[in-house]
Amino acid sequence: MIEAGLIIARFLHYLATTALAGLSLFPLYAFAGAEPEVLSRWRQRWLLWIAVAALLSGLCRLAFTAANMSGSMSDLADAETVWAVVHDTGFGHVWTLRMLLAVLTIGVAARGLRSKAAAARPNWMMPFLAAILLASLAGTGHAQIEEGWPGVIHVTSNTAHLLAAGAWLGGLIPLALILHRYLGTDLNVGPKDVDRILMRFSGMGYVAVATLIGSGLVNSWFLVGSLSVLLNTPYGQILLGKLALFGGMLVLAVANRFWLVPSMRTVQPDAADELAVRSARLRNHVLGEQFLGWMVLLAVSILGTMQPAVGQ
Ligand code: HEM
Repeated sequence: MIEAGLIIARFLHYLATTALAGLSLFPLYAFAGAEPEVLSRWRQRWLLWIAVAALLSGLCRLAFTAANMSGSMSDLADAETVWAVVHDTGFGHVWTLRMLLAVLTIGVAARGLRSKAAAARPNWMMPFLAAILLASLAGTGHAQIEEGWPGVIHVTSNTAHLLAAGAWLGGLIPLALILHRYLGTDLNVGPKDVDRILMRFSGMGYVAVATLIGSGLVNSWFLVGSLSVLLNTPYGQILLGKLALFGGMLVLAVANRFWLVPSMRTVQPDAADELAVRSARLRNHVLGEQFLGWMVLLAVSILGTMQPAVGQ
């Protein structure tokens, strides 16, 4: 019961922190000029809700971690147990700072929602805070196992892993919305703008995928160590499942980049129905990529509660 609660709290926190980082980073690479007003307002509103979700899921994870450390569900809401974890453990120190950062992020998101000028100029504060909130997860969990230089390498690679995961998974959300609504009138984004946004997203995607593979291999080096334990341990088998999901995401991403995006360019300007059909197909692929990405986060939520495979 505690384990299931901890896995769900970890999953919800990964969902919220990756979405917050990707959604706040998106306008910085997707739009050459100002972000369309309607999209900016939609994004500001979602950033606030997701920042609140990051705080609430983070507090849930703290409570379940405390119950997991004390071994009894009744300690979930026991202030003394939670205080002991917060005050006397390295996890508690890092997590307290993260929750304070989450509160600050809610404040900045609320201010962004109120400010009329938010769409006109790039906002660096939100992506910066969201990136630290996501990357600081590397300060907890399995990346903390090693001491000295191996520890520094593992935490650094895990930080890169988390940021790449956030940029990709969090960036798919606004991309799906644009593909869903740009043929309507309110977004003020034309087919040429969408083509440019898709190409810039692909550019970010190349960097994210290369970073995920490189840092993922480093993580695997420290936490798996050999092919036989990858194949013959529950930890290794769940990681293989994660890699299969990742493979599915890559297949969709390559099909989007080299088949669907080019096919949208060949549609005649007067063939609006055909453009709508092809845009919907690309939107569904993007939603498929998103769903597989969230299943990757579910696999990671389980892996983080298990004994790493290395040495088994
Ligand atoms: C879409 C692709 C991927 C996403 C979204 C993703 C996401 C993540 C996340 C969020 C973590 C948890 C980090 C933490 O909390 O400290 C993680 C850990 C990990 N990832 Fe990935 N990852 C991806 C691809 C990969 C690849 C390609 C590999 C291997 C080559 C890999 C290997 C690992 C390992 C070994 C861990 C450590 C798990 C643990 O905490 O025990 N990942 N990944």
